[in-house]
Amino acid sequence: ESHSCISNTLSALSVDAQTLQNQIDELSSLSDTPAPSVTRILYTEKDVLARRFIKNLMRLSGLSVREDAVGNIFGRWEGHEPELAAVATGSHIDAIPFSGKYDGVVGVLGAIEAINVLKRSGFKPKRAIEVILFTSEEPTRFGIGCLGSRLLAGGEALAKALKTTVDGQNISFFYAARSAGYAKDQDDLSNVFLKKGTYSAFVELHIEQGPILEEEGISIGIVTAIAAPASIKVEFEGNGGHAGAVLMPNRNDAGLAAAELALAVERHVLESGSIDSVGTVGILELHPGAINSIPSKSHLEIDTRDIDEGRRNIIIEKIRQSASTIAKNRGVRLSEFKIINQDPPALSEKSIIEAMKASSADLNLTHKLMISRAYHDSLFMARVSPMGMIFIPCYKGYSHKPEEFSSIDDISNGVKVLALTLAKLSIQ
Ligand code: GLV
Ligand code: MN
Ligand code: MN
Ligand code: MN
Repeated sequence: ESHSCISNTLSALSVDAQTLQNQIDELSSLSDTPAPSVTRILYTEKDVLARRFIKNLMRLSGLSVREDAVGNIFGRWEGHEPELAAVATGSHIDAIPFSGKYDGVVGVLGAIEAINVLKRSGFKPKRAIEVILFTSEEPTRFGIGCLGSRLLAGGEALAKALKTTVDGQNISFFYAARSAGYAKDQDDLSNVFLKKGTYSAFVELHIEQGPILEEEGISIGIVTAIAAPASIKVEFEGNGGHAGAVLMPNRNDAGLAAAELALAVERHVLESGSIDSVGTVGILELHPGAINSIPSKSHLEIDTRDIDEGRRNIIIEKIRQSASTIAKNRGVRLSEFKIINQDPPALSEKSIIEAMKASSADLNLTHKLMISRAYHDSLFMARVSPMGMIFIPCYKGYSHKPEEFSSIDDISNGVKVLALTLAKLSIQ
């Protein structure tokens, strides 16, 4: 029965590519910076409008919509055995400053379209299928990535830390959440945590954010593992002073300490000897930020990742030692060295990899096993559910910049593989 059901489904899978492209374009217009760039930051007006847009599409697809206290949004298609653990899919719609319109979005709009595809084919799931919009996969506003999925996966420490977390404007997390209509009457997030066993499988569709699929002319990437990300905040403090009057021997320049640490990050990453080790200083701020004032404070945020967690941790320790050595040598104070997150890598589930492979083959689409160097909500969903990810090609591997692009044909292929994978998993 289930076999014929899937083969009927397979022959009837059709993506409404034009509508999906229009939705991607419309969502991209909800941005705080001009096109082609997209900037959509957690709990801002544009984020709230974008959430409304997604919830509306979920309802139009016949899904029942639920939101939790931090704004993770769940759209549920009930199965004919509703007591079974559901199959879930989803991604994020927040966008870092001056980024593109496909990162995350393809995995949310594509998931809703995958449901539409299955409904139009006449498929009826046994397990419920849920589309999840995760809150703040990007760390932009409150400094922590995968905020929503991290909490879903039982981020007790994060739930506690959020009580005192503020953004760059000193707006508290809970004030911001309430202004977007969430966290209504409490700062208790314990009901956000997912019970283990809520989902039998989680599958995320995402653009590759790397060049491999396009270069090799392959339609589908099947992710086997997600690299281990970490981020660190550092602050140096010195005496500052007048850029003309304080002579060089009498300075303790917090800016130069930051510059030296940024170069040390690059050196420590290269010392690992592996092409899989990466490190980035993406934020470097000087206080007071005047041309004629010696920086009295500097603030760096460091991102470092590797597919090998131990090697990544060695890099973190070297950065810590360099920060204190540099502070000592320059007579500045290392006023903060805070590891914001130091996450292990995640592995995809074999049975989901098999389902994604079989779906690609059924659809006559070429596929390749690959690792994800970017992190995703799947990294955290893997803690509470078997996980898998589907990648599609993107232009030159560009991401986190306005030039990010995936063709609607590639997106439609991804949606089909997602739809068929969800169908297979939902009858298991
Ligand atoms: C996700 O956006 C990442 O930084 O990998
Ligand atoms: Mn991103
Ligand atoms: Mn993303
Ligand atoms: Mn700071």
